[in-house]
Amino acid sequence: MGYTVTVVAPVNIAVIKYWGKRDEELILPLNDSVSATLDTSVMCAKTSVSASPEFTEDVIWLNGKKESFSNKRLQNCLREVKERAAAEGSVDKNFLSWKVHVCSENNFPTAAGLASSAAGYACLVTALAKLYKVKTDVSSIARLGSGSACRSVYGGFVRWHAGSDPSGVDSIATQIASSTHWPEMRALILVVGDSKKKMSSTKGMKITTETSELLKHRIKHCVPQRTTEITKAILARDFPKFAEITMKDSNQFHAVCLDSYPPFVYLTEVSHTIIELIHSYNEICGETKVAYTFDAGPNACLYMLESEVPKIFKIIKTIFPSSDPTKFISGLPINDADVST
Ligand code: PMV
Repeated sequence: MGYTVTVVAPVNIAVIKYWGKRDEELILPLNDSVSATLDTSVMCAKTSVSASPEFTEDVIWLNGKKESFSNKRLQNCLREVKERAAAEGSVDKNFLSWKVHVCSENNFPTAAGLASSAAGYACLVTALAKLYKVKTDVSSIARLGSGSACRSVYGGFVRWHAGSDPSGVDSIATQIASSTHWPEMRALILVVGDSKKKMSSTKGMKITTETSELLKHRIKHCVPQRTTEITKAILARDFPKFAEITMKDSNQFHAVCLDSYPPFVYLTEVSHTIIELIHSYNEICGETKVAYTFDAGPNACLYMLESEVPKIFKIIKTIFPSSDPTKFISGLPINDADVST
């Protein structure tokens, strides 16, 4: 006897980066961030959650490997979903006391700066919310697993509001626009390296928050203005503006990593070659046609309109032949299919 729910959740790639926490436990960010949610057809997390009176302990399998449920973030997510379900009265108390078994898989490298934790926690929390019939917004619960996960709960273009309440009640994600608003938008992921990153985002953010002067400047003088401007650019479908802000924000994020003490770097020589290539391409075009952005890893996410995809594919293939570690994931459309069962 028992109940099982299976959910698929997308990756999101930030165009205004989240970097730095004001509360480590509740995962409250220092700044707002903005992202696009990618199609689940190529990159996604898939999670099944079962609850049964026969289970004796909570268990999780991550990409086929049994992991401990003692992980605090996992426990926080499970506890919050159950508390929300209890408050909403959506299921009976007995059901809430049953243990759960979770099986979660990513179809792309984990912890290589490809937003695997975002998709993973968005998936887990959505699956749990479905199991316990939670009706209200779950982005604030996904946030407890991995900050950026709150943005993967919605499709299209999404903003994570930093909020100001110490409880985190207003630190939630909302949709700026659905994918149908800008159907030509594409994201191309170039996998430069798929090994696990040396500096976790949690540790990196802590060092940056404690030591970087540039981070203070970024949060006060750059991010608020950029967030307003990129929202306008998205709503106006102004690609050159969207691209310029995206690239500047990625560059500043990597600059704050370098401004941290001790400094750390996520970009490799190949990442820098991609940056130079995109700037040359835009210059030759006489207009900004492609944007790059890099998370906490060397892999590039290129944003462009659909008409640009074949040209960029061709150029990248020429510059990085197939023997090179660089490979494409795909020209992913921006997804609006939301998390699906
Ligand atoms: O949610 P985390 O802890 O994986 O941090 C994500 C940080 C970046 O990917 C670098 C930026 C972002 O906003 O997604």
